[in-house]
Amino acid sequence: MSDAHDADMKRWGFATKAIHGPGGPDPRTGAVSQPIYQTSTFAFKNAEAGAGIFAGEEDGYVYTRISNPTVNALEQTMALLEGGEAGVAFASGMAATSAVIFALCNAGQNIVLCEPVYGGTHSLAESVLPRVGIKPRMIDALDLDLVRDSIDENTGLIWIETPANPTLKVVDIAAIAQIAAEKSVPMAVDNTFATPFYQNPLDLGATLVIHSCTKYISGHGDVVAGMVVTDKAMGEKIRMESLREIGGCLGPFDAFLLIRGLKTLPIRMIHHSENAALIADYLAANPKVERVDYPGRNDHPQHEIAARQMSGFGGMVTFYIKGGRAEGARFLNNLRLCTLAVSLGDADTLIEHPASMTHSTYAADELLQFGITENLIRISVGLESMDDIKEDLDQGFSMI
Ligand SMILES: Cc1ncc(COP(=O)(O)O)c(C=O)c1O
Repeated sequence: MSDAHDADMKRWGFATKAIHGPGGPDPRTGAVSQPIYQTSTFAFKNAEAGAGIFAGEEDGYVYTRISNPTVNALEQTMALLEGGEAGVAFASGMAATSAVIFALCNAGQNIVLCEPVYGGTHSLAESVLPRVGIKPRMIDALDLDLVRDSIDENTGLIWIETPANPTLKVVDIAAIAQIAAEKSVPMAVDNTFATPFYQNPLDLGATLVIHSCTKYISGHGDVVAGMVVTDKAMGEKIRMESLREIGGCLGPFDAFLLIRGLKTLPIRMIHHSENAALIADYLAANPKVERVDYPGRNDHPQHEIAARQMSGFGGMVTFYIKGGRAEGARFLNNLRLCTLAVSLGDADTLIEHPASMTHSTYAADELLQFGITENLIRISVGLESMDDIKEDLDQGFSMI
């Protein structure tokens, strides 16, 4: 790319970057849409060139588990959008999560995990990591002294997820990043709920950003994928250790779908947020609802932190139905438009009961400790007509 292109790219707004990426049209063919390089392996020009690539003396593709032009185009666009130097794509958000943990933590070390987090991340930390000698320390990161006191010379990584799944608790990325920097410990932020459109943790001092691209990056509920964005050296370490050796690579066709999804990320996020804000207000005014949590509302307990570190509040709304599990089940069983399903970030409104579904990996006392109560319902507000979503929720509530 020319110097003029690099200068243009620095000036571009988010939507332009999301649509064009850093590479522009395919350099080999001029194709404007990203071609799908659906190949497992790549021919070397000659024996010397092949050996040179393996020795790291020459650039070139070797094998799609390590890198692929379609997947690289996605990685570079995500790095551009998050303000990082390198992206590494994975076959799922959990593959990206475990890749980061295994790249940064060794047996005998601990990971400080700021709760709550996605149920899969929680059970990875609680059930899998101890088997390989990595101890999880689950803490409430609203207490910054506790964050500081939980880090010791054996801490390999601090992990936060904000807004958190499913409670939408917001933690202060910059404040925790400062503690991490004082203690020289890397910090990872799961940015799945906010997306790079509304929050850039690297700008706030994080070392790595993780996404489940399955969600808003895809936006259409048709891909499972993950991404890590970080600096060049860390990106190379994660690619070589966690991708090349552990092997959870993303396929080229899925990368193509995500590149296509990214082009509409800004307009989708704006519409998701508008719809979510309206649904949050509707729920707050509903006598059958005990409480609503949406980071954009003034009554969200960490609204001030959210307003400082996010430029918009996203499409997720959590509410606590009056009554308990039985009332929640009756409400969910009577919905006709909102789909009872896990996952989030799709054009369709998805609704679920975290305590018995996405977060059923938490023990009963942990659910209570981290605020994932039996009457908590999570909505991923979709892009449908607002009146239709409200009408469906109304008729669900009318059954209790
Ligand atoms: C916040 C968050 N992080 C990570 C994951 C895991 O992603 P995946 O399902 O793509 O493995 C999820 C899945 O729901 C999630 O909600």
